[in-house]
Amino acid sequence: MTTGTTTTTTTGASTAPGSASAPASTDSPIGGRRHLLSIADLGAEGIEEVMKLTDSFVEVSSRAIPKVPALRGKTVVSLFFEESTRTRLSFETAARRLSADVMTFSSSSSSIKKGESLRDTVQTIEAMGIDAVIVRHAGSGVPWQVSRWVHGPSVINAGDGWHEHPTQALLDCYTIRQQLRARGIQSAPALDGLRIAIVGDVRHSRVARSGVLAFAALGAHITLVAPPTLLPASLVGWPVEVSHDLESVLPKLDVVYLLRLQQERMIEALLPSLREYTATYGLTRQRAGLLPEGALIMHPGPVNRGVEIAAEVADLPSSVITNQVANGVAVRMAVLYRLLGSGVELAVA
Ligand code: CP
Repeated sequence: MTTGTTTTTTTGASTAPGSASAPASTDSPIGGRRHLLSIADLGAEGIEEVMKLTDSFVEVSSRAIPKVPALRGKTVVSLFFEESTRTRLSFETAARRLSADVMTFSSSSSSIKKGESLRDTVQTIEAMGIDAVIVRHAGSGVPWQVSRWVHGPSVINAGDGWHEHPTQALLDCYTIRQQLRARGIQSAPALDGLRIAIVGDVRHSRVARSGVLAFAALGAHITLVAPPTLLPASLVGWPVEVSHDLESVLPKLDVVYLLRLQQERMIEALLPSLREYTATYGLTRQRAGLLPEGALIMHPGPVNRGVEIAAEVADLPSSVITNQVANGVAVRMAVLYRLLGSGVELAVA
């Protein structure tokens, strides 16, 4: 594997995250627009708006009865064509905590199996009277396409192919800010000047694409650490530095963000072996010891313990993986409320 460090801070546009694999969306949920398809729609102001609203929903989630009537009478559909534990359950929990009705779609037990098209499926569900559709699909750009087929409902991208996973980036920004504040390391609302490394399979990662957009919008310095075969073919337009030497990067970080090896998306042999990947890029106990005191260890899940992160490292006090999951519910409440909210006070239901 290649080692050593290269630095490429780039400013072009052709393959920037948010524009790589799907048409850029023209709608954004903030500022009166209807859908959440890409972090690129939000900008720093939109991200901050969601962060501020999330503070309220973290408080709601801490109540004995964590429920408010804000979306009473609204119906939210989770339309997942790909596996999910965190995103699906946290969106459905978020909708229920806002008193919305939730419809769950499972492609494996739907009429898709009888040959019904995606468009007919979406329009059938819309005809039942819904207010939001949360879409996960292996195809980049599918949520954007769905947003063109529906007339009333909001469309939320819950992860499309290699393209984007905007609510993951929002919950990651929120978690970084919350945790570094709690450790007395960061007082500014944004992520100004924070040093974040995203390590691993960037090439196939929608989490990395949305994360780069969000972290950069909030002022963080981002380093991608990966073997050349797991980086995108072009990094033109990515506001990042690149390194192939994890151990030289770790001592300079506020946050190390591990990515799962997306073996379901690897159609070529991109690595000599998993063992060699772990030996070079895995966050072992010894490598975690190179991080400055107070630095955060993050991972979007699902975690492959023993591959990109050692099992014991995932459980260190500096690992905030479960905080990410917990904040995911509040962030998704904020997104749903912002898109569908009726202006009802956040009172107890
Ligand atoms: N992080 C994430 O998207 O996890 P799931 O695939 O379990 O939803």
